[in-house]
Amino acid sequence: MTKAIRYFDLNTGAKIPSVGLGTWQAEPGVVAKAVTTAIQVGYRHIDCAQAYFNQAEIGSALKKLFDDGVVKREDIWITSKLWCSDHAPEDVPKALDKTLQDLQLDYLDLYLIHWPVRMKKGSVGFKPENLDQPDIPSTWRALEALYDSGKARAIGVSNFSSKKLQDLLEIARVPPAVNQVELHPAWKQPKLRAFCESKGIHLSGYSPLGSPGVLKSDILKNPAISVVAEKLGKSPAQVALRWGLQTGHSVLPKSTNEARIKDNFDVFDWSIPEDLIAKISEIKQDRLIKGTGFVHETYGFYKTIEELWDGE
Ligand code: A2P
Repeated sequence: MTKAIRYFDLNTGAKIPSVGLGTWQAEPGVVAKAVTTAIQVGYRHIDCAQAYFNQAEIGSALKKLFDDGVVKREDIWITSKLWCSDHAPEDVPKALDKTLQDLQLDYLDLYLIHWPVRMKKGSVGFKPENLDQPDIPSTWRALEALYDSGKARAIGVSNFSSKKLQDLLEIARVPPAVNQVELHPAWKQPKLRAFCESKGIHLSGYSPLGSPGVLKSDILKNPAISVVAEKLGKSPAQVALRWGLQTGHSVLPKSTNEARIKDNFDVFDWSIPEDLIAKISEIKQDRLIKGTGFVHETYGFYKTIEELWDGE
């Protein structure tokens, strides 16, 4: 029987909706409409971040949806992320308050450390001289306080390797609920997946379509995906997303186009048979988002890409 896979369980006891609307690169001016369309279509999860510079507009869209009675706050899942220049413990609650103010909410369902990277307080942009030394334990303790306060109902991380998660678990009072990382058929991250499974940390996949607009990747044109799409009568994007759900992670496809927002949500009442999942598993692997802006031989903490990802 086809499994709907509408939610995944978190170690907090909460259920995270398995498909969330990604909002990275969703420009102000179009993101409100995208969020509204998504909620109307049935999405119950919006993935946001302070660094996407569009949270205020998303907040206006959410307020209207609540005011119009389209959806209730308690029925949707909102994630946001702490930016690298707000890692100082005293800045963490202020950053969350600003995010809540922009989103017009009084709590988040999930708050993530966006990168295991620190940038100087108040700095803007990816200049190497903005890079600083991270102190994840002190930043995490500040997130734990937000969890205790109820303003963040779950806390987690993003772009963490197995090693960085292990280091975090050693000092955490509240273990991370989620690690949000790049995941798609051409970047499966089996080592990280096995580690997270063993520790009860849910993986959430960003760029699940390979971000064809920004990164110009051709994952959706990969022959293995095309063959499966043709066999099942689905779009390549639907195949990539359903592959993610069946592999066990939530997916966060970004779109500001109504037809594609709908397409990306039509992934629950069918499934990919095991033999075709195996075919997709043969796709050549490559990380698309390398984080080069966070690595510098002189500045900051990570001297090489290898150090940022701990070789994963
Ligand atoms: P658009 O917003 O115009 O729909 P990712 O989620 O991996 O970052 O990918 C987002 C990119 O993929 C955006 O450029 C988005 O463009 C495009 N996209 C989203 N949904 C689909 C789809 N169903 N088919 C093809 N491209 C899509």
